[in-house]
Amino acid sequence: MRPLQRAVGDYHVDRPQVEAPRGVEPSGTNCPNACSRPPPPGGGPRCSVGAHPAPCPIFPPVTSMASAPTRRLLRGGAPLPIPNREVKPRSADDTAVKRGKVGRRPPLADSFSYLLFLFILNRMKPSFIHLKSTDSTNTFLIEKVSAQNVENIVVYADAQSHGKGLGSNTWESEPFKNLTFSIALNTTFIEVGNQFQLSQSIAVALHKFLSNYLNINELFIKWPNDILFDNQKLSGVLISNMLKNNKMHLSIVGIGINVNQVEFQDWPTHPISMKMITGKEFDLETLLHSVVESIYETLELLRSDGYPAINDYYLKYLYRYHQWGNYSIDGEIKCLFMKGLDSFGRLLLLDEGSNELAFDVKQIKFV
Ligand code: BTN
Repeated sequence: MRPLQRAVGDYHVDRPQVEAPRGVEPSGTNCPNACSRPPPPGGGPRCSVGAHPAPCPIFPPVTSMASAPTRRLLRGGAPLPIPNREVKPRSADDTAVKRGKVGRRPPLADSFSYLLFLFILNRMKPSFIHLKSTDSTNTFLIEKVSAQNVENIVVYADAQSHGKGLGSNTWESEPFKNLTFSIALNTTFIEVGNQFQLSQSIAVALHKFLSNYLNINELFIKWPNDILFDNQKLSGVLISNMLKNNKMHLSIVGIGINVNQVEFQDWPTHPISMKMITGKEFDLETLLHSVVESIYETLELLRSDGYPAINDYYLKYLYRYHQWGNYSIDGEIKCLFMKGLDSFGRLLLLDEGSNELAFDVKQIKFV
């Protein structure tokens, strides 16, 4: 098994093309032009692994913000255990340590960190269930979890007959062409009032992973957690949180990534696939394992107090952040300025009189 591809701290992100206004006072005169402007063109934030000697402004060096086990994980110090992959030691030294052939005993602190690290990895180890067909991987997993209270399970399907999207939307996916999967996660470490942190973390994991995998810099995160390329939807996320005693318990995170499909029926949602972007075909199972690995890395960062870094990354890539845009609210199109998000993850928009309006997902549509 290969070590983790990179440390999260290796990322450098800039958002040069999006000028935030001083404060967040919108100018009423900008609106018509700004709203008819196309979405931010390419040349936006760029993640260049290892290309920036300066400290990353978004993800500070992992040493400064993560726990010892997490630091080890993020540095690629040990592989994330993904089922069905052989776990191989990374070097001769590691082999020797494994077999007890190294004479020097590690200091106690190191041994403790390593045990803690193994404990965390084991707790995080996901199992994969492959279905040829199901109505929806989210529905399948919600039923399974309700019956058996399982966690760290990834269910993926070659075909979904009733793929679910946000709200009353459906999720279109041609059989055998895309990734449609759901993960059951233990989210007891997230405060019930901070549920949106999970949504942000998944969006960040997907954005980071896809930007690197495709080696492109044109991806944006559309609130709450879509990934867009050139204003078209590359992936979508549907999360169901299950509470116990009014606390976060398990979350079912359903993810659809358009991979090899090149023709879509549902053009109003402007889908796009990895193949349409690159012209290349991708192996679905390899991709699935890598993206799950990336999600677990980001969740481990969230668990170890990395939320500020995740939030910074999210805002850096947030589509229309600190920009004017058109939104449909109760069937009426309004031009509003995106101020940001509140702690519940609601979208905060300003009208031309600088009045603040808060929306949840069901109340507003991007136009
Ligand atoms: C959205 O509308 O953007 C959310 C789409 C989520 C689609 C995925 S595909 C796998 C999982 N199973 C479902 O039925 N939906 C999610």
